[in-house]
Amino acid sequence: MSQPLRLGIAGLGTVGIGTVKIIQKHAELLARRTGRPIVISAVAARDRRKNRDADLSAYAWEEDPVRLATRKDIDVFVEVMGGADGAALEATRAAIAAGKDVVTANKAMLAHHGHALAAEAEAKGHVIRFEAAVAGGIPVVKALTEGLAGNAITRVMGVMNGTCNYILTRMEGAGLTYAEVFEEARQLGYLEADPNLDVGGIDAGHKLSLLAAIAFGTRVAFDAVELEGIGRISIDDIRRAGDMGFRIKLLGVAQMTGRGLEQRMSPCLVPAESPLGQLQGGTNMVVLEGDSVGQIVLRGAGAGAGPTASAIMSDVIEIARGCRISTFGQPAATLADPVAAKAMAPAPYYLRMELTDKPGALAKVATILGEEGISIDRMRQYGHADASAPVLIVTHKTAREAIDHAARRLPATGVVIGEPVAIRIESV
Ligand code: NAP
Ligand code: HSE
Repeated sequence: MSQPLRLGIAGLGTVGIGTVKIIQKHAELLARRTGRPIVISAVAARDRRKNRDADLSAYAWEEDPVRLATRKDIDVFVEVMGGADGAALEATRAAIAAGKDVVTANKAMLAHHGHALAAEAEAKGHVIRFEAAVAGGIPVVKALTEGLAGNAITRVMGVMNGTCNYILTRMEGAGLTYAEVFEEARQLGYLEADPNLDVGGIDAGHKLSLLAAIAFGTRVAFDAVELEGIGRISIDDIRRAGDMGFRIKLLGVAQMTGRGLEQRMSPCLVPAESPLGQLQGGTNMVVLEGDSVGQIVLRGAGAGAGPTASAIMSDVIEIARGCRISTFGQPAATLADPVAAKAMAPAPYYLRMELTDKPGALAKVATILGEEGISIDRMRQYGHADASAPVLIVTHKTAREAIDHAARRLPATGVVIGEPVAIRIESV
């Protein structure tokens, strides 16, 4: 049997301890599959006295992740601390400089520094792998870089933040408000330390930008992702969308269009009976479309100790087997600088508004939509007891700019109460 592959694991939280447990539980299986033992030489975390629900006594302990990353007795630096900058970035750079391969679950760090890190690693003949950073246990990075490498990818789409999907499906199932379910999610420990990373769409936007880089051979362009979170989605929208045969999802879409690279992470309506529409709870789903393969749908746990550590191990095993795949599926130096699409592809939109119940109110709304070139596909007015009438409109395909312009003009009619809500309907 060949030399052991020696790991240094920085971070002993959910993912780090999950990884330790797999290595301890499956030592023999891993050695059989890779032809060499996979061992842990050293670990790092902040607080050595913390009870971690795993026996770490056989491993050297480092408080400083940079010292861990540069130890002579490690081949692979496993970064599972988190954070876009700070200790994670410093230690990852140190590991690369010291000639180590890197495995990380850190989408925030890669979304901001992925290209530079990949270039640094590749210049030294080392690899950075990040299966765990996108959609937890779903092997979507490998699906794109390996399984679908013979395809021109036409679109990447998906629900990549389990917390948001939990909140939206729980609101629908229990008839609770956003604020009520947000609080529930906080108590269940589902939310990131900064909840805006989840509900603001940032975490999922990080993941989308990484997949887009692989799919379209472009540098990671997180700053160009159009981001909108789920905070303004009301239980009314969820119910009304349901009446029209749709569900609301925080959906990421990346596609290369004639106008450039389109990347957006925003609430969208999808058909209720589609695989994305059926997705419940904290589960993730990624849909990949290639010119030869057609559509592939991957579904599974997007977070948690076991699923995320499973993804970490797939990268460790790849390295143990001697596979050397570029971070983004092609050398970093060959990734193109993407031109961001200035406008989204046209789509149908769902519009919800409250109208004062008086003659001519609907006509005023229809006039503005007509003037903006927006054609109505379906419309529904709900029965009501008071002087305001809830109205739903589904448009034909239209530009987002036209919808935004119309939404800004509608209050001036004097018949629309409050802000109209506009949500894109995605064809899946
Ligand atoms: P976590 O439970 O908060 O654990 C973080 C660990 O990093 C802790 O052990 C902490 O030490 C250690 N740490 C933080 N800063 C450190 C520093 N400056 N020096 C040394 N150690 C430090 O985090 P996690 O949930 O495992 O997430 C880790 C990474 O995986 C993040 O990038 C996250 O986005 C990603 N990820 C997580 C999941 C998930 O389901 N949790 C899923 C996909 C990706 P102490 O324990 O001593 O405080
Ligand atoms: N906060 C993330 C989620 C964790 O809810 O999906 C996994 O990246």
